Amino acid sequence: MGDFLTIEHIDIAANEVRKHTKVRPRVGMILGSGLGPLADAIEKAELVPYGKVPGWPVSTVRGHVGQLVFGELEGQPVVAMQGRTHFYEGYDMPRLGLPVRVMQRLGIEILMVTNAAGAVNPDFEPGDLMLLTDHLNLIGMAGQNPLRGPNLDEFGVRFPDMSQVYDRKLQAVARDVAKAEKVGLREGVYVCLAGPSFETPADLRFLRGAGVDAVGMSTVPEAIVAHHGGTRVMGVSGISNKANLDGDTETTHDEVLEAGEVLVPKLTKLLRGVLRKL
Ligand code: HPA
Repeated sequence: MGDFLTIEHIDIAANEVRKHTKVRPRVGMILGSGLGPLADAIEKAELVPYGKVPGWPVSTVRGHVGQLVFGELEGQPVVAMQGRTHFYEGYDMPRLGLPVRVMQRLGIEILMVTNAAGAVNPDFEPGDLMLLTDHLNLIGMAGQNPLRGPNLDEFGVRFPDMSQVYDRKLQAVARDVAKAEKVGLREGVYVCLAGPSFETPADLRFLRGAGVDAVGMSTVPEAIVAHHGGTRVMGVSGISNKANLDGDTETTHDEVLEAGEVLVPKLTKLLRGVLRKL
């Protein structure tokens, strides 16, 4: 595959996936670092390993299984990506958009995208969930946008509006579910950095000053591709660690994965609740 995605690449991948499952998903889910076990809740599961799908970016990091899980959750036909790929793994931005394009070709109307993130907002604690109300596309400002290259007119316009990436109705549903189910739900702005190095204290002071609440290395490219193609997006961060604003605490991948154990049950409750209300 060259630098950019074409409709042919997308359809080759989508046609291959269709050979492995009869499920026609209405909702797509991307499960972030340590959050993959959420897919265990999916009933009548049919698995498609990423390696079987031509061009599909394969996860290389621990905490990401690397398969599509098709099935039913709360009576909805869903597909979950158990594990995702990141820019820091070496994939070009357009290629990172392929999974979302394939899910769009399979007919999803809604994308629920999750991630593990560091708390930049000092009020947030590891184990908290944060509903994304917006994102800061810093990686895009640095020249890395998944829509770079020829526009795929079949999906959306050349210059897509980004004033409401995270669907307001879905946000309202998530708030209602959190209240009813007594799941604590923070809200805020997520920023995607390239990684893989974590942030310095100076990076974090800069991000805080820019209005960021949580920092991670994913989600924004996928949300942009989804929104470009008219898919309604809901984003949730699982706060896995306090980003080291004070410079005294280290951040490790192990703590990010450990937090997943606390986060998965809460996130499962929240996403199931939203699915029930669709
Ligand atoms: N920084 C960046 N990405 C992350 C973090 C962090 O502190 N935690 C989980 N993903």
